[in-house]
Order: sequence, then structure tokens, then C-alpha cells
Amino acid sequence: MRIDGKAYRSAWREDGEHALRIFDQTLFPHAFEVLVLRDAGAVAEAIRTMRTRGAPLIGACGAYGLALALRDDPSDEAMTRAHATLDATRPTAVNLRWALDRVRDGVAALPPGDRADAALALADAICDEDVAINRAIGEHGLALLRAAAARRGGGRVNVLTHCNAGWLATVDWGTATAPIYMAHDAGIDIHVWVDETRPRNQGAALTAWELGRHGVPHTLVADNSGGHLMQHGLVDLCLVGTDRVTRDGDVCNKIGTYLKALAAADNGVPFHVCLPSPTIDWRVADGLREIPIEQRAGREVTHVAGLLADGRRAEVRISPEGTEARNDAFDVTPARLVTGLVTERGICRAERAALRAMFPDLAAAHGD
Ligand code: MRU
Repeated sequence: MRIDGKAYRSAWREDGEHALRIFDQTLFPHAFEVLVLRDAGAVAEAIRTMRTRGAPLIGACGAYGLALALRDDPSDEAMTRAHATLDATRPTAVNLRWALDRVRDGVAALPPGDRADAALALADAICDEDVAINRAIGEHGLALLRAAAARRGGGRVNVLTHCNAGWLATVDWGTATAPIYMAHDAGIDIHVWVDETRPRNQGAALTAWELGRHGVPHTLVADNSGGHLMQHGLVDLCLVGTDRVTRDGDVCNKIGTYLKALAAADNGVPFHVCLPSPTIDWRVADGLREIPIEQRAGREVTHVAGLLADGRRAEVRISPEGTEARNDAFDVTPARLVTGLVTERGICRAERAALRAMFPDLAAAHGD
């Protein structure tokens, strides 16, 4: 994606540099800062504090983190330690574990001296693959938006999205946003309802910023608005991302996604989930029982960050002093509420047989 005419990815390396570069997403949309992360500890900290975030992106960053750890110490013990540290940063998105396992398993048989370069090459490959996957998701999802435009007789298509499943959550393109960018570029009249996505406001801060940069018409709405908009025929379809999909098609995504799916089902609005195959966790079936839900600090609920009138960034408390807050970061939408899964290989139903038919190689690799 381009910022002021310059092409960027959300995680990258400069030529010859043994460091990972990311945007500090906690400063968006008010400031634009690049962080240079030179060791695994810095990468772990950036993921934990959500300076970098989004399921595919934390996978890519985690892979670089492990590669940087191996440059400092390529021993088995150091690799195990760094894998565990990075894996513990965020528990819900399965992409992180997937990427860490891929790097570890890809270098484990090599002599220690060869591991760091091989790990770096694997991390680079994970990034390139993510871009290709998201482009393919975009092409498949574009068909849904073309069909919606046809149903509207060429009139405006209204999409509702939650959180940020955009290029800032991936290496490039985004998952849920890839079809939107492609539809906009293809001349389809598309408009996006952007859920603010409390408590961290990824919709307000990140999705609105991205869509604005690309020139996609959009409107920010309070999180509670989706059901009302759907009741009034103002949403043609929902497109969201996900942090983990079970082999039976349950979808775990940012807290509040489930409520949108319920409202969509009640109003006959298609609810599609865009995902790269590394987001499928073939080891788990029942999302509600088996997916660990990240618990974050209550302070994210009791406080909000923003820009003061004089341009300074500030955090303010919005609840009485001492109010306890609970902060579940994700929820699970049962497969029965999902109209379709938009993957890099095509669109399928959110059910085990359909996922297995779409990804026979991956299912078989997990004994399914
Ligand atoms: O807590 P976050 O901001 O990392 O949550 C991100 C989401 O919930 C996204 O929808 C998900 O990671 C998919 S990103 C393509």
C-alpha cells in the first residue's frame, strides 16, 4: 500500500539489515513512526503492547523475532526460549504459533551457524506469501462485491467491517479490506461502515485511516450501530477478519464480532469472514471451548487515548475512579452464523467438510 506515494509493507527489512521495521500502530492515526526492532525481546515487546498487531502480521513479526534471536544465539536452548517468549505475547491468534513453528522446524536440522540466515529467509518468505494470499483473498471476495453491486443495480454497495483486518493487520492488502480495495479500484461504488471497535478503537484509528488513504468512501459508526443499520437495509454484507478458525468453522475475532453476526443473521445480511489458511487451527473444533481468549488490562476500557485540541496526544479516564473493568479481547462466532469463509483458494461454507475439501493438503497434514 502507498503512503504519500511511497509503497510500504507493514513489516519489512531494509537491505542487508538484521532488524525488523514496523509502524508504531499505537500512535495511529495521529502520528506516523517507524520502529526498528533489533532483537527478539524488542519484537516480543512490540507484539505484547500492540505496537504491531493483527493475526497475520504478528505471525510475520514473530518469525523475524525468532530469526533475530538465532543471530544472537543459535543454540537449541536459545531457540526454545525465544519461541516460548514470542509465543506467549498474544494467545488468541494462531498465526503467531504457526509462524514460530514454521521457522523453528525449518532450521532445527541445520548446523547452528546456518540457522539465523535460514530463519531470516523463512521470515521473508512468510511475508511474501502473506501478500500473495491476501491478493488472492481479494480476488475471491471481489466476486461477492460484484454480485452485491449487481443486486443493487449498480448502486452503492454498503459493507460493514469490524476492527482492523486491513493492510495494517497483515503484511499488505489486508484480508477483509483486500476485496474492498479491489472493488473500489475496479470502479464499483462501495462504501464501508467502520465499527469504532472499543476498547482499542482499531476501526476508528486504523481502518478509517487506511480506507481514507486509499480513497474508499467510509463512515465511522459507534460499535452499537450495526444492528440498527442492518434493520434499515443499510448493510449489503459484512466482511470481517479473524484470529483463529476451527476445523469446524467457528470464527474467533475481535470482541463484538459475534454481535454483528447475530444481527446479520436476524436481518438476512450475508456475513463473510476473510482468512488466510494459516489462521485455520486444525487441532481445535469447538471455538467456544477450545480457543484461549486474551484478557487485556481493564485500563483499555476505563481510559481512551486521543488527540487534544492543541495537538498533543493524551489518555483520559472515562469511568469513575477505581471502577473495575473486564476486557476480553476476542469472541467466538459459531459457524452456523457465518455465511462463507473467503480464503486464498476460494469461498467455502464454514463447516468441516467444506474446509477439508478446500485444503485437503493442510487437513491431511494435521491428520484430519
Ligand atoms: O487485537 P488486534 O488488533 O490484533 O485484533 C485484530 C483483529 O481482530 C483482526 O480482525 C484479525 O487479527 C484479523 S487481521 C487480518
